[in-house]
Amino acid sequence: MFRVNSRIRKPVCNSRLTITDVLPIMLLGNTEYAVRPDRPVPQQGEYMIYADNAATTKMSREAVQAMLPYLEEYYGNPSSLYAFGQKAKEDLEAARQKIASCLGADPREIIFTSGGSEADNQAILSAAHSGAKKGKKHIISTAMEHHAVLHTLDKLKKQGFDVTLLDVHANGIVSAEEVRDAIREDTCLVTVMYANNEIGTIQPVAEIGAVCREKGVLFHTDAVQAAGHLPIDVKAQNIDMLSLSAHKFHGPKGIGVLFVRRGVPLETLISGGAQERGKRAGTENIASIVGMAKALEIACSNMEKNAERMTAMRDRLIAGLDRIPYGELNGDRTRRLPGNVNFCFEGIEGESLLLLLDDKGICASSGSACTSGSLDPSHVLLAIGRPHEVAHGSLRLSIGEDVTEEEIDYMIAAVTDVVTYLRNMSPFWRDLVNGKRKHVFSE
Ligand SMILES: Cc1ncc(COP(=O)(O)O)c(C=O)c1O
Repeated sequence: MFRVNSRIRKPVCNSRLTITDVLPIMLLGNTEYAVRPDRPVPQQGEYMIYADNAATTKMSREAVQAMLPYLEEYYGNPSSLYAFGQKAKEDLEAARQKIASCLGADPREIIFTSGGSEADNQAILSAAHSGAKKGKKHIISTAMEHHAVLHTLDKLKKQGFDVTLLDVHANGIVSAEEVRDAIREDTCLVTVMYANNEIGTIQPVAEIGAVCREKGVLFHTDAVQAAGHLPIDVKAQNIDMLSLSAHKFHGPKGIGVLFVRRGVPLETLISGGAQERGKRAGTENIASIVGMAKALEIACSNMEKNAERMTAMRDRLIAGLDRIPYGELNGDRTRRLPGNVNFCFEGIEGESLLLLLDDKGICASSGSACTSGSLDPSHVLLAIGRPHEVAHGSLRLSIGEDVTEEEIDYMIAAVTDVVTYLRNMSPFWRDLVNGKRKHVFSE
């Protein structure tokens, strides 16, 4: 959580937003109204609860400190032969070693990328193209992957690949048996995310990996939301390729990793120099790589302690929001990320909910940050079977490691207050109350 100072504003609905601000969004779902250039950024003396850690996290002081020497002092190019450049090269390799050991990998299996999207693209395109050379053009994934995966699969479909998107159950989880049943003679890749960015559900990656290894099919997992929060051991979990992104675990933005098991062929996405053993061209972003290694090291050493505390806080928040009538938790109650809470509320338009929560000093999201400019309901919520009208009324609160009980209780009170306020002025809600429409959830 980010505190400008520790004074909590009282959770009353004396919002600075008026009905004219919110009504167009409720009626039209028009996100143009959601982007208000005049919206003030919290200033000194104001309080803000940052509950959007799935979108991005605050960098840790240690990661910032680790980066500074490479911005100010050791700015040499790791490809240069003189000692000043070689210092950068040595530190780059030390960072690679640290990251590899956090994943149970060999340093030669770590490729630095610009983030999770690039890592996903490279892993999937590479596995698909090398499969195609052997006449294998079938790929298995799920309907609730991140768009970095789904849009890459769309591209491959246009190139003649056959893609099976497995249905996820109402709890947002696929089983290894379902993956096994979908594998065919011509399957070249299974790509299933470790943890979902919207509803936080955790997939049985070790079991899926075991099935893929047994069947001789490559297994990639998008671990962008999992890295630093859930244990990763690429060998024990039979993972062939894995993507992660530093800004999800208090590292810098614009840097990530693609793990590729030794022996798995890897195609280059960005051509040019011979950096990253010819697999990813471009002068290495040494400061960010060092910052990422530091952040991952800290996240991994504190993982158990953080998970225990955050799970307790998450469950307190879920219990509080469960008391709001005609709302329901999205995703499995326990097999979910320690910091993820995601609810649907009937009779609510997500964008108005977010604006009013912002007004109460709470940074939240209604889905993934990447889709929050789109009018479509979340593909993840549709995949778990939520009807359109409730999928539009979703709220994701992704809490941080240092969230307090007081902040959780404030969020419960604020969400309860705002949901009631919005329902009271919603014609859609009136129809539900008058029995003109049917409820989706129970009271
Ligand atoms: C599951 C998942 N995959 C991929 C990405 C993309 O990562 P990046 O922002 O580093 O490109 C994200 C980012 O939100 C994500 O949550």
